[in-house]
Amino acid sequence: TDPERIRNFCIIAHIDHGKSTLADRMLQLTGVVEARQMRAQYLDRMDIERERGITIKAQNVRLPWQVTTDGVSTDYVMHLIDTPGHVDFTYEVSRALEACEGAVLLVDAAQGIEAQTLANLYLAMDKDLTIIPVLNKIDLPAADPDRYAAEIAHIIGCDPDDILRVSGKTGAGVTELLDEIVKLIPAPVGDADGPTRAMIFDSVYDTYRGVVTYVRVVDGRLEPRVKVEMMSTGSTHECLEVGIVSPEPKASKGLGVGEVGYLITGVKDVRQSKVGDTITTARNGATDALTGYREPRPMVYSGLYPVDGSDYPDLRDALEKLQLNDAALTWEPETSVALGFGFRCGFLGLLHMEITRERLEREFDLDLISTAPNVVYRLVGEDGADMTVTNPSDWPDGKAQAIFEPIVKTTVIAPSEFVGTIMELCQSRRGELGGMDYLSETRVELRYTMPMAEIIFDFFDALKSRTRGYASLDYEEAGEQESALVKVDILLQGEAVDAFSAIVHKDGAFAYGNKMTLKLKELIPRQQFEVPIQAAVGSKIIARENIRAIRKDVLAKCYGGDISRKRKLLEKQKEGKKRMKTIGRVEVPQEAFVAALSSD
Ligand code: GTP
Repeated sequence: TDPERIRNFCIIAHIDHGKSTLADRMLQLTGVVEARQMRAQYLDRMDIERERGITIKAQNVRLPWQVTTDGVSTDYVMHLIDTPGHVDFTYEVSRALEACEGAVLLVDAAQGIEAQTLANLYLAMDKDLTIIPVLNKIDLPAADPDRYAAEIAHIIGCDPDDILRVSGKTGAGVTELLDEIVKLIPAPVGDADGPTRAMIFDSVYDTYRGVVTYVRVVDGRLEPRVKVEMMSTGSTHECLEVGIVSPEPKASKGLGVGEVGYLITGVKDVRQSKVGDTITTARNGATDALTGYREPRPMVYSGLYPVDGSDYPDLRDALEKLQLNDAALTWEPETSVALGFGFRCGFLGLLHMEITRERLEREFDLDLISTAPNVVYRLVGEDGADMTVTNPSDWPDGKAQAIFEPIVKTTVIAPSEFVGTIMELCQSRRGELGGMDYLSETRVELRYTMPMAEIIFDFFDALKSRTRGYASLDYEEAGEQESALVKVDILLQGEAVDAFSAIVHKDGAFAYGNKMTLKLKELIPRQQFEVPIQAAVGSKIIARENIRAIRKDVLAKCYGGDISRKRKLLEKQKEGKKRMKTIGRVEVPQEAFVAALSSD
């Protein structure tokens, strides 16, 4: 296809602002999917995506469109590149944006712009994409397009009257939007005769075909039966098939400058085909890769354990399978006194962690316990040596010269009436106000710098509940800062229970210790002897509870000589013991660990 006739764009939108519905409508209007084949949210392929209503993996689709000006019709090809909307996947978003010349900024006309949308908008503006602002859901009675048009105009500096108004649901305005995309978004530019360079913006594992790599060709051409090279690793692969998606994959003779499509090389593991990497030909290939490639780096770590220890091999299998489709997921075996055999897993963020756990439980039918998540710490030891800690149990006993923790820049957007309560919350999480802007008279944007550890637990939930669900949040990494952090251990009868150890700021140590000892007192059944539960920082005890002793004599109830009843009771007690873990002399039912580790 002549690059002049190609338009590549993505849709930037907040969750639920109607991106999938609009994409569906575009598929239909361009004739790519017939009305009767249409199923809701055609592009969201993963079941979990559909249920949670979020887009996890970028998908892309080719749309033909004819524009008539002055009685002359011209055929165009548009590529819609779908971007994930959640903060954890910012890197994937940035790569998807890199594959486009323009972006549709889609905003719910009853909600206004949200923090993540704003963050992605800035990302797109940074990359000089042409922005087409659009208000969606104008069919809603609650829609207030005039108000939100003013807000958007204020942010991107355009005329409020130039903002398109559409409804993905009824289809109103969508034809005009497609025309505008052709008119406003520039055609891709590249060197058709130069060495091939194509950017990977997504790769997905397919059971039958192996890894399917989605690419945007920047220079040259990608053709089947040619050997290609992944420039970040230098590894070469036979290119078995290239093609386009419209909406199902279809093999083609090749992809030229500006074209978006897929490539299959027969590799089985997405880590061989990394998002952001540049593909070139093995012979006469490019010498300079496209810029911006980054290795996926886990930001949040947590232990994952099977509730039933005999599921351990199944969990390993499942993790291996998931990793084929998720280059950002890392794991290694670990053992815990309390929880047995499991894995230490690294994730991009909290949502990534939740989704992974949910997929493991659902797709692989596993029951799992996860330990409290933690971020990655950097310590400078007394001898001046640098060490990285991703697991509280690796925290050194000795004194450290300095401890660093990762920090993030957060943006919160909310109705202005909540400014006070949001500030209070951010300050209680060690946040530092960076700035505040009114987007309109009634909505405000607050910027804080905060330790990442304070965000990853329940910050978003706390924010939502304090603002009745009206606040939205975005964050990005912003380096590290030195902090007074300590490890709090929880001891049962003097014995540390590894799964409960946590790294916290020293001002929060007492609160954590208190919370955990109280919780465990409730959860652990009384034993034949008294059991102290203590929280400690190093050798210093900071909180203590006691579980009083009982004499547990189940047979006492069975007066009379009913021997079979006695036997039954004894067997039942034995059954119960199997699911007990012994910490020192204390027997703790597995459920107590599960309950203590589940967030409240
Ligand atoms: P993510 O995939 O999670 O990012 O969400 P999304 O932005 O793709 O939103 P989706 O298309 O799933 O729409 C969210 C909800 O809004 C659904 O219940 C849609 O039916 C509804 N919706 C989408 N577009 C419109 C519209 O134009 N009008 C009305 N009334 N409802 C809409």
